[in-house]
Amino acid sequence: MAAMEAYALGGRLGFHLPGHGGGPGLPAPLDRLLRKYGAALDLTELPGLDNLSAPAGRLEASQREMAGLLGAGSAYYLVNGATSGLEAAMLAMSEASVPTIMPRHCHTAIYNGLILTGSKPLILPCDWDGEWGLPLGVDRKAAEARLKENGPPDKALWISVNPTYNGILADLAWERGIVTTQPKWGWLADEAHGIHLPFGNEIITEEQHLSALRYGAHTVVQSAHKMGAGFTQTGILFCNLVYKILVHSVKDKNYCIFFRRHTMQAFNRQHFFDA
Ligand SMILES: Cc1ncc(COP(=O)(O)O)c(C=O)c1O
Repeated sequence: MAAMEAYALGGRLGFHLPGHGGGPGLPAPLDRLLRKYGAALDLTELPGLDNLSAPAGRLEASQREMAGLLGAGSAYYLVNGATSGLEAAMLAMSEASVPTIMPRHCHTAIYNGLILTGSKPLILPCDWDGEWGLPLGVDRKAAEARLKENGPPDKALWISVNPTYNGILADLAWERGIVTTQPKWGWLADEAHGIHLPFGNEIITEEQHLSALRYGAHTVVQSAHKMGAGFTQTGILFCNLVYKILVHSVKDKNYCIFFRRHTMQAFNRQHFFDA
C-alpha cells in the first residue's frame, strides 16, 4: 500500500495502462462518484444492480446499448481482460479438428487459446521493422503463398490483430477478401488496442473503416483499459449481426466453467450461434 501511495502521489505523468491515466481520463460522472463514495462503490450482485453471470437488468440493457452503439449483434462485458474474451471466443469457434490461421505476432492469449482448443495453428509470416524491432502486420505475399501451399482448409478460424501493440492496423480489406470466400471459416479479431477504432470512422472514407466490426468479423474483442478509460482488466466481446457460421456441431458447451463468473455465464455457444 505504501508503494501504491508513493506512486499515486509521485506527480508522474503516466502514459501506461489504464487509459484513464489515474483519473483525468475518467468520464465525469464516474470520477464524481468515485471521489464521493470511494470503496462504498465496490459492489457485487446486489438487488437492483443486476448480475454479470446472468444479466437481466441494467447490465443486460447496457450490453445491448453497447452492441447497438457499434452496430454489433451482441456485446458481453469482460472483467478478465480481452484475454478471457479471446480465449472464450476461440473455444466457441474452433476445436482440435479446426485449424487456426493466425499472424505470427498474435498475443499470448491466442497462443494459450490453442492449448485450450487443441487447434493446430497455421502461422502467417509478418513484416518486420528491423531498425525499431516492430512487427508491421501480416506479410501478405508470404501469407498468400503459405495458404496456397497448404490449400485452404474446409473449416478454420481466422485471427486478425487490429491494431498491434504498437498501433499498426491490419489490412482488413485484404483479410475480408480471403475470409469471405470461405463459408465455413470463422473470423475473430483481436482489437485489444482498438476500442477507439469504431469511433474514428467519420474522419475517413467509407472504404477505410478502422474496426473489424465494420468489416464483418464474426467476433471482435476489445480491451476497455488500454485505449479506453475502463478499469484494469475490463473488456468487451462483440458478436456481429452477420455471424451465421457453424464452424462445428457442438452447440451446447458452456464455457463459463473456464472463465468462472466473470465472463462466460453470459456468453455460451448458444449466444454465438444464434447471434
Ligand atoms: C494484441 C493484444 N491482444 C490481447 C491482449 C490482452 O489484453 P488484456 O490485458 O485486456 O487481457 C494484449 C495485451 O497487451 C495485446 O497486446
